[in-house]
Amino acid sequence: MARDEDKRLAALAAAAEVLPGMVVGLGTGSTAAWLIYHLAERVRDGLSITAVVTSHATERAARGAGIAILAFDDLAAIDLAIDGVDEIDDQLWAIKGAGGAMLREKIVATAARRMIAIADGSKRCAAIGRASVPVEILPFARTFALDRLKALGAIPTLRMANDRPFVTDQDNLVIDCSFSALPDPAAMATQLAAIPGVLGHGLFLSEIDTAYIAENGQVVRMLRP
Ligand code: A5P
Repeated sequence: MARDEDKRLAALAAAAEVLPGMVVGLGTGSTAAWLIYHLAERVRDGLSITAVVTSHATERAARGAGIAILAFDDLAAIDLAIDGVDEIDDQLWAIKGAGGAMLREKIVATAARRMIAIADGSKRCAAIGRASVPVEILPFARTFALDRLKALGAIPTLRMANDRPFVTDQDNLVIDCSFSALPDPAAMATQLAAIPGVLGHGLFLSEIDTAYIAENGQVVRMLRP
């Protein structure tokens, strides 16, 4: 309960950074759900914005809340992306994708002139790598990719949902990669991206400019060093 309130407070702080006329990228997950809630409040109070979404779930929530949605495939850039994280450290390196939306989230974050991460304090860490790194793969490459990920030192697990392979919004599969240690996330990001059939991964090392982290009701604003 307290953790959910911290998610809400972080989302509220980020929602306050949205300015009239902006095109805003809406992330996916329980913290992003609070962002949609607070942005919708501002829209009802007269704020004029449009949004792009990073998942079908976020699209349903944003439409239901009365936020105008644009098709991202018509856009090259947006003003601001706001999204949750699974782990974040003080240099604003993050792991994302527990919800399986990291491919669209990475595209929208990269298209954004600025990205704000929002999280409760449980997501903050000294160095990322405890959370597993989700990797989205073309189904055709399933066994090949599992093998290549093992060769990189990962313990890879095909993500399942209801006893079936989890399928992303793009009809792909997710392999969750845990590492006994992740001393060089940047090198790992390069190696993951180089595997044919890997379409994206949850290491966000250059996208996040600002983070709002809330713990026990206190919100801290962090900037990329
Ligand atoms: C979605 O795929 C993820 O990247 C989420 O943004 C991330 O897992 C954070 O989710 P919560 O806000 O639900 O913790």
